Amino acid sequence: MASPYSDFKGKPRLPKFATPKRYDIRLKPDLDSCIFNGIVSIDVDVVSSTKYLVLNAADLNVDSSSVSFKPKSSSQELRASGVGLIEEDELLIVEFAEELSLGIGVLNISFQGTLNDQMKGFYRSVYEINGEKKNMAVTQFEPADARRCFPCWDEPAAKATFKITLDVPSNLIALSNMPVIEEKKEGDLKTVYFEESPIMSTYLVAVVVGLFDFVESSTSDGIKVRCYCQVGKSDQGKFALEVAVKTLELYKKYFDVPYALPKLDMIAIPDFAAGAMENYGLVTYRENALLYDEKHSAAANKQRVAIVVAHELAHQWFGNLVTMEWWTHLWLNEGFATWVSYLAADAIFPEWNIWTQFLDQTTDGLRLDGLSESHAIEVEINHASEIDEIFDAISYRKGASVIRMLQSYIGADTFQRALACYIKKYACSNAKTEDLWAVLEEVSGEPVKELMNSWTQQKGYPVVSVRVKDEKLDLEQSHFLLSGSPSDSQWIVPITLCCGSYDNRYSYLLKEKSGSLGIKDAAYVKLNVDQTGFYRVKYDEELGAKLRHAIESGQLSATDRFGVLDDLFALCTSGQQSLINLLTLIASFREETEYTVLSNLINISYKVMRIVADATPELVDNLRKFFINLFEYPALKLGWDSKSGESHLDAMLRGELLTVLAELGHENTLNEAIRRFDAFCADRDSPLLPPDTRKATYTAVMQKVNASNKSGYEALLKVYRETDLSQEKGRIIGSLASCPDPNIVLEVLNFLLSSEVRSQDAIFGLSVSKEGRETAWKWLQDNWDYISKTWGSGYLITRFISAIVSPFSTTEKAKEVEEFFSSRMKPTIARTLRQSLERVQINARWVQAVQKDNYFAQLVQELSHRN
Ligand code: BES
Ligand code: ZN
Repeated sequence: MASPYSDFKGKPRLPKFATPKRYDIRLKPDLDSCIFNGIVSIDVDVVSSTKYLVLNAADLNVDSSSVSFKPKSSSQELRASGVGLIEEDELLIVEFAEELSLGIGVLNISFQGTLNDQMKGFYRSVYEINGEKKNMAVTQFEPADARRCFPCWDEPAAKATFKITLDVPSNLIALSNMPVIEEKKEGDLKTVYFEESPIMSTYLVAVVVGLFDFVESSTSDGIKVRCYCQVGKSDQGKFALEVAVKTLELYKKYFDVPYALPKLDMIAIPDFAAGAMENYGLVTYRENALLYDEKHSAAANKQRVAIVVAHELAHQWFGNLVTMEWWTHLWLNEGFATWVSYLAADAIFPEWNIWTQFLDQTTDGLRLDGLSESHAIEVEINHASEIDEIFDAISYRKGASVIRMLQSYIGADTFQRALACYIKKYACSNAKTEDLWAVLEEVSGEPVKELMNSWTQQKGYPVVSVRVKDEKLDLEQSHFLLSGSPSDSQWIVPITLCCGSYDNRYSYLLKEKSGSLGIKDAAYVKLNVDQTGFYRVKYDEELGAKLRHAIESGQLSATDRFGVLDDLFALCTSGQQSLINLLTLIASFREETEYTVLSNLINISYKVMRIVADATPELVDNLRKFFINLFEYPALKLGWDSKSGESHLDAMLRGELLTVLAELGHENTLNEAIRRFDAFCADRDSPLLPPDTRKATYTAVMQKVNASNKSGYEALLKVYRETDLSQEKGRIIGSLASCPDPNIVLEVLNFLLSSEVRSQDAIFGLSVSKEGRETAWKWLQDNWDYISKTWGSGYLITRFISAIVSPFSTTEKAKEVEEFFSSRMKPTIARTLRQSLERVQINARWVQAVQKDNYFAQLVQELSHRN
């Protein structure tokens, strides 16, 4: 029989015959039994005649007898004649006997739900206080889980005001988006009334109930800012608080619009799926992204906290005040917040060289977008279950990078002016990508729409090939793919170049497949100056040799050195350049000291070591010598001990250099690490092991662990169990699986599934040594049912697949993986699986190319003897 509601099924968006204007929500969570009761009254504007109100609800028990509608214009309350749930579309359908009159009415619904363990909707997180485990109640609604807490029009464009009231135990702190207006105590319970919010989207509504301490400050225009932490740990909130105050002031100037709410709370939540969430006025964070411990946090942790805070606060404008019209435009939120967070970090911490570090974003975006299984920045979304997987490097990193490209094309000042116009024009409303382009086009007078559509409406990006011919520079673009079939896509590419010196710059808009520029003979030609463009460059042999020379003689900036290296690495991965050329280029970095460049060299070395281990294992030892030589020079310069007054970047670099040396099996590093680790085990405050060198030390310890000598592993687990700093736990989890003994790797992986590791953290432990790769794959299959049950409802599940599948490098393995998942496919993992399999094929092809290269062995031999 056809369901009476079949008209409403399978649609991507809710029908538009009624829209919500105001929500009055009352929630009563029971933290012991983990259930909650709720009542919602929604002011609804009926705009076309209907017998149905169709909204979202999921995992809620709706009390049908409670559902009623009272038109403002009448004194009579209408009972619903039918209440239906369509589970697969998460819809609640309320039917009335007759058509509702047009205009405003109030829809009342009572319901009940569970405080779940899935870190989404209204959920519980567990914390310890005086050795006792307690539950707190927390919400996480983005993208589409407000419907698990109260029935609502759960779409970003359905903005309304929210008046929230909570019934909670009177000893607890209750927080929501707005300040408290009143608290009424009655015995062990209290009712907390919050001010009504300005209009906002449902995914930004938030509630937290638990025990916390806080630190407080305020901005120069009187906005109260608080940072809530574990009880007894409020000192750890001070750094984030300071960053938040400065950032709010900065954004107010930059967007020329003040922060819209009277207060801003930030809070650390012990169980949290994402890194942080920008709920309006109540931003929630993982502990490791908010708390900074002077004694035990590393420089990298400090930077992460600053970037995350700056990112979430950027959303208070970009996302919360102006909201994407639909999830297709998610990148407007995430790409912009990512880009703006670097702007803020650069203003507050100029010594971090954060724009150079921004290249990591661009590189990650380019890496994902080089797959044929990538997607366009603007992507069609037809079902709520499809939203999760677009929170990826395309929306965030490619998004941020194309914004940077546009900014450098039209100029920083014009760009800022246009953004301020855009924010004002769409404040308290919704916008699409084309709305932003229209404003930018108007303010700048440049063809922004045409230019940017080529970057946001098609996947991929170009590689620009450059050749010198008859005193001219010939440019030609083609779609850059790490593998797979070439397409004839084209882009409008804002080319920049400098010739022989940074004073000699040109820019050129490449609109066709090819173009050419008249250039005088120069010592070198570098395209994509400062790496602000989202494209790769392939130089002909002559230009490539000149660039190598320019690097060796110190003529290129760190960003440009990074760019030359990263482009060649990508070309090599895709088979368009030989590994010989890459290693020859790498050799010209032997006096490199810059953090970002070395950090990328380190990542590249890991990858190259793995490819060579699969292709020509007999050459691994010599290659290892080459990389050890390369990294020993800067590592010796930095030493193990931090120097007073040394730079933030040196502190981060030291840790990464020692980690790679440990993984390369450098004996001096391993021995020194173990000596220092022993001192640390005896005294956790030992000056021998400051936080910046701990990850390296733990990695070194694990290199020496095997099935018959597990003492180092056990000592690390002891540190893990004794610390209550989540960053410390993270460092340990992140180093355990680097052990070369597969039996230990298996133990580590099983540990990740134990109750000792919060499910949010297990994903940090999946970087498995190459010796453990096969074991990890078997483990994934053996435990798939449990893993997909535990992590399957969010996007964390995808990390298990990408981390464990991507490192393989044979077509046979790709087949085996495909077969295993063929009967276990779900929409949430489909894209990641295809991407991981594509990476395996790319590796396989690369391995074969190395095997076929007759000169490779000779080069490695030669390089290993160089100093
Ligand atoms: N809006 C996101 C949080 C989010 C992510 C919600 C995925 C739902 C699904 C938030 O603004 C965010 O982007 N957080 C980042 C941190 C940021 C510094 C890149 C995160 O969680 O990693
Ligand atoms: Zn974000």
